[in-house]
Amino acid sequence: MHIPLVSALLLSPLDALHTLSAQYFASFLPGPPPSANVNTGAADGAYLLGLGIADITGPVVETNMMGYASLPQTDTGLHMRQRVRAFIVAEPSLDSGSDSDSPQGERILLLNADIAMGDSGVRRALLAALAAEFGNGTYHKGNVAFVGTHQHSGVGGYLENLLPQITSLGFHRQTFDAIVAGALLATKRAHAALAPGALSLGTTTVPGGSRNRSPTAYLANPAAERAKYVARGGEGGDQEWGMSVLRFAGGGSGEGTGADGRGFLGFFAVHGTSIYENNTLVSGDNKGMAAYLYESWMQPKAMPGNGSYVAGFVQGAVGDTSPNTLGAFCESPGKPYDGLPCVANSSTCGGTAQQCHGRGPAFAADAYGFASNAVIGGLQARAVRDLLHNTTAGLARVRGSVRSVHVYVDMATHEFALPNGTRVGTCPAAMGFSFAGGTTDGPGAFDFVQGDNKTSQNPFWEIVKAFVTPEPSAAQKACQAPKPILLNTGFAHEPYEWSPSTVDIQMLKVGNFGELTTMAGRRIREAVRAELIASGILGDDAHVVVAGPANTYAHYIATREEYSVQRYEGASTIYGPYTLEAYIDKYTSLVPFLADAPVGSPPSDAAPAEQISKAISLQTAVDFDAAPIGKHFGQILQDVVTSAPYRPGETAFARFVGANPRNNLRLEGTYLTVDQLVSGSWEAVRSDSHPSTIYRWTRESTILGTSSVNVSWTIESDASPGVYRIKYFGDSKPLIGSISEFVGTSSNFTVA
Ligand SMILES: *[C@@H]1O[C@H](CO)[C@@H](O)[C@H](O)[C@H]1NC(C)=O
Ligand SMILES: *[C@@H]1O[C@H](CO)[C@@H](O)[C@H](O)[C@H]1NC(C)=O
Ligand SMILES: *[C@@H]1O[C@H](CO)[C@@H](O)[C@H](O)[C@H]1NC(C)=O
Ligand SMILES: *[C@@H]1O[C@H](CO)[C@@H](O)[C@H](O)[C@H]1NC(C)=O
Ligand SMILES: *[C@@H]1O[C@H](CO)[C@@H](O)[C@H](O)[C@H]1NC(C)=O
Ligand SMILES: *[C@@H]1O[C@H](CO)[C@@H](O)[C@H](O)[C@H]1NC(C)=O
Ligand SMILES: *[C@@H]1O[C@H](CO)[C@@H](O)[C@H](O)[C@H]1NC(C)=O
Ligand SMILES: *[C@@H]1O[C@H](CO)[C@@H](O)[C@H](O)[C@H]1NC(C)=O
Ligand SMILES: *[C@@H]1O[C@H](CO)[C@@H](O)[C@H](O)[C@H]1NC(C)=O
Repeated sequence: MHIPLVSALLLSPLDALHTLSAQYFASFLPGPPPSANVNTGAADGAYLLGLGIADITGPVVETNMMGYASLPQTDTGLHMRQRVRAFIVAEPSLDSGSDSDSPQGERILLLNADIAMGDSGVRRALLAALAAEFGNGTYHKGNVAFVGTHQHSGVGGYLENLLPQITSLGFHRQTFDAIVAGALLATKRAHAALAPGALSLGTTTVPGGSRNRSPTAYLANPAAERAKYVARGGEGGDQEWGMSVLRFAGGGSGEGTGADGRGFLGFFAVHGTSIYENNTLVSGDNKGMAAYLYESWMQPKAMPGNGSYVAGFVQGAVGDTSPNTLGAFCESPGKPYDGLPCVANSSTCGGTAQQCHGRGPAFAADAYGFASNAVIGGLQARAVRDLLHNTTAGLARVRGSVRSVHVYVDMATHEFALPNGTRVGTCPAAMGFSFAGGTTDGPGAFDFVQGDNKTSQNPFWEIVKAFVTPEPSAAQKACQAPKPILLNTGFAHEPYEWSPSTVDIQMLKVGNFGELTTMAGRRIREAVRAELIASGILGDDAHVVVAGPANTYAHYIATREEYSVQRYEGASTIYGPYTLEAYIDKYTSLVPFLADAPVGSPPSDAAPAEQISKAISLQTAVDFDAAPIGKHFGQILQDVVTSAPYRPGETAFARFVGANPRNNLRLEGTYLTVDQLVSGSWEAVRSDSHPSTIYRWTRESTILGTSSVNVSWTIESDASPGVYRIKYFGDSKPLIGSISEFVGTSSNFTVA
């Protein structure tokens, strides 16, 4: 289940980050009247910039993972922690006499989280936490965008609607709380770090960074429109390799004045599906890897997530993109088509979807996609570094006011006029049959195939679907046509809402909607850009970036032509064939509210009702932990090799008597360290967030409460020779009493 939501970031090198209706804002912010609301400092390109990072990793074991919607994909350990990165852009204070902690200019906060998608429940809780921390006027629904990197190997269960909770067995409070607390902490860090600085914008390409996974649906778009995008500066046809980079630099002589600045936001569209569905280690996928790589290039000695440099790799119009750049092949041992490309239009092998899998660039290197993940992450990181260090290319300074606009739109009932005047509407949410077919990045579990509009592919579903969601009415069928309806989720309100009907529409240059396909992203970008220029808000150099999935989760947005083909993306375009047109209509209508001194405030539908108080959770608590008889927590079960030194490329491994890591998420901390002996004392040099280390937990006996932990470190080629040890940090829960910490330590070993 690739779930979405998007934001549009509008930037102009001359006219800067724009935003909000003054009146709309005035209800939150004390301050000057709208006419005075053009900040002279911002017009000069001087801003207050704040960057921060925090840990949002939920329970790394016994919890369903989010993205592929695969029931067996329950996590068993940790590859790299999930993080959230906060970026604040504020106009310098209008009132120099005011408290410097609360500058009076307008601001925006973009949170880029290493999770599958933003969610309205997470957003609601976060906004409440931000209001409690900073007061209602500083960070609020209008100026906060919460964007997911759309990775598929994170901890699940945090979304508030029912459909994405099915495989996670309901809602998981621990995951949800970790995300909200981390987003608040990252914001507090970014807020505390607010300092004068400058923003610069550049564009580059990431050749080979992605591939279209539904090219036959793309071909349904008009030939004349497709012709506009062939081979344009590295962007070609059905895929876009373009990347926009917004650098946050320091002012004066302090930190962040080098080519890399203090951090950046880089927008590039590629699905976070480098790591396969059969992996059960929690990770950040390719954008988490790109951020780790960049941040550790900048601060090699800092533990991951503990540096001051913040690299934001943000998702773009991701809908039909795939990191599996070699294409999709049949994994059908013993069949004549084993190893051959899948049937293109349906992405099948021998008639079914399950054996058709995409392959990443380093497919042969490992069984779970980790090597390909490093390649796709590395390409994105290197593209940014080359851009920032390439002085001939240059970056354009961003100047102008900071503005944002946000409204809610009820997509179940949204009526509007097409550009030719014909009135059309969206429909209550529904998933088509091809939704269950999945994609070549993660084939569906049932015998559905993509690109099929027949209503009767599976007799079992024909029977059960009426029990799961209400039978669609004639009006709903007509509205959603030609999509054959599998799950009529917009009419499923019991035991709580299955799909969102109200979505957030926001531009902060950071607005939101669904997971746009490549062409859908282009259409909305072009339409919003044209409107910005036509209305005089930005000049011809206006630069529009789409970011998402953000804020609400609303599945996919395909073009009407792609919708007619009903591959996965079309089947998951939940509000019917006019979904994209409805978003374009809404976004362009909000453009005037991004003016320096906008008039009035845009109409908004009511906020969606919260669902979490009704949420069902089938995940059980940790009962208790125990060590096997005669052993203690942290005791070594299998030690490192001490008889001979390890060489780079080899893996040091130790196994310990463990306890359930759900007892303590160790947020901002680690379940393991690799320590090096430096001048007679131990120094932690690796944590559980280094991609070279892996933490795995195994339940040995449910009845006895015993478990074990495996820790491994695959020694990097640049690891310095010396004496090392592995430490494991655990927390055990007795049958009676409170949770307590313990530590396990391996023998000393040498790296030659
Ligand atoms: C913030 O808004 C909430 C809800 O509207 C209100 O209850 C609370 O008193 C406000 N807090 C401040 C500091 O204005
Ligand atoms: C596959 O899709 C393409 C593009 O939509 C179409 O032209 C072609 O006829 C289809 N092929 C088959 C075998 O259905
Ligand atoms: C994180 O960074 C701070 C400040 O640089 C430092 O004091 C602290 O020891 C670091 N923590 C870890 C776990 O490396
Ligand atoms: C995991 O899935 C990928 C993609 O289907 C497959 O190539 C690989 O063999 C699988 N790994 C294992 C260990 O089964
Ligand atoms: C630097 O920029 C120039 C001009 O855009 C481009 O031709 C060149 O390939 C770039 N070099 C690198 C290393 O990115
Ligand atoms: C307007 O465009 C829609 C969608 O292409 C089409 O169905 C409708 O017939 C058009 N209306 C007129 C008056 O041309
Ligand atoms: C399914 O697609 C075919 C070919 O595109 C079309 O002729 C047919 O009318 C469609 N059926 C439905 C139920 O939409
Ligand atoms: C942990 O290590 C032991 C001993 O090498 C091994 O048998 C076991 O399969 C490992 N567990 C996991 C989950 O990899
Ligand atoms: C490991 O090295 C430390 C520091 O030299 C030393 O104190 C300790 O005794 C060593 N441990 C073992 C088991 O040799």
